Amino acid sequence: MTHSSAPGKIILFGEHAVVYGRPALAVPVTQVHADVEVSDSARSGIWIEAPAVGLQAELNALAPDHPLAAVINNLFFRSHVSPFPNLEIRITSTIPVASGLGSGAAVTVALTRALASHLDGSMTDEELNAFAYEIEKIHHGTPSGIDNTVVTYARPVYFVKDQSIETFLVGQPFTIVIADTGIPAPTKESVADVRKLFESDEKYWDNVFDEMADISFAARRVIEEGWIEMLGALLDENHALLQHLTVSSPELDALVEAARRAGALGAKLSGGGRGGNMIALVEPESAETVAASLKEAGARNTIITQIT
Ligand code: PMV
Repeated sequence: MTHSSAPGKIILFGEHAVVYGRPALAVPVTQVHADVEVSDSARSGIWIEAPAVGLQAELNALAPDHPLAAVINNLFFRSHVSPFPNLEIRITSTIPVASGLGSGAAVTVALTRALASHLDGSMTDEELNAFAYEIEKIHHGTPSGIDNTVVTYARPVYFVKDQSIETFLVGQPFTIVIADTGIPAPTKESVADVRKLFESDEKYWDNVFDEMADISFAARRVIEEGWIEMLGALLDENHALLQHLTVSSPELDALVEAARRAGALGAKLSGGGRGGNMIALVEPESAETVAASLKEAGARNTIITQIT
């Protein structure tokens, strides 16, 4: 039997602007993860079990563009595996779906790694990342590639589309509370709406994306130097720009406000927006209080994570 695991992720800075070539910062969240077990099967076919999404099916019963079928078929064709072996695949995940925590990318990465190593094929992180990006396009249309990158490398990533991967160091660990609105984040829709807005006045929105880029650039320096006390204001500024870009929502704004009132040093939505998650920077000793206030303000779930 072969097992592989991949973490969730959050975007700290630069979502949406990253689609337009600006830098974004994302980090792995190891408290949640996707796990895949692959074993040889006595019955014929490739049997997939994914209880979290109520799936129990043989590969051929899935639509060809189903993301799991796409992973298996593309990987086997690419590796010239023929005929397909008889396998049992079990996929479990603690990453909430459609919340901006990278659940799709984590399942893809864990499944690809588990299958490749079960078949004795090795894949470099670079190959795996490029492969996962192709699968992400099936999920999301025109993704920047940030999700698959941070999940593959499982390290803090300073991401610029179409440029080589830059990981960054965290000078001093800091604590983030993640809170889920419980509303699915319609990333494809918010990305498409931002595109329309951009096309309505490219010069204006290019300036807004430049401001977001300045924030990401400054945030990387601040994190690397360990000047955490300066990070809160950058989160707040980034949230204001995302509101202006129309990708926040009353629920996200309510959680951002609640976190600030409860003593967070700064807060913003994280990911595609409209739903999904927000993040708050907190002093470690006030993490539980902020998390409780977020629950009171309507958060479905909270995660406290240390960025190291
Ligand atoms: O909702 P998430 O966490 O998958 O993030 C989407 C981030 C965007 O910048 C809005 C889109 C992208 O592909 O980078």
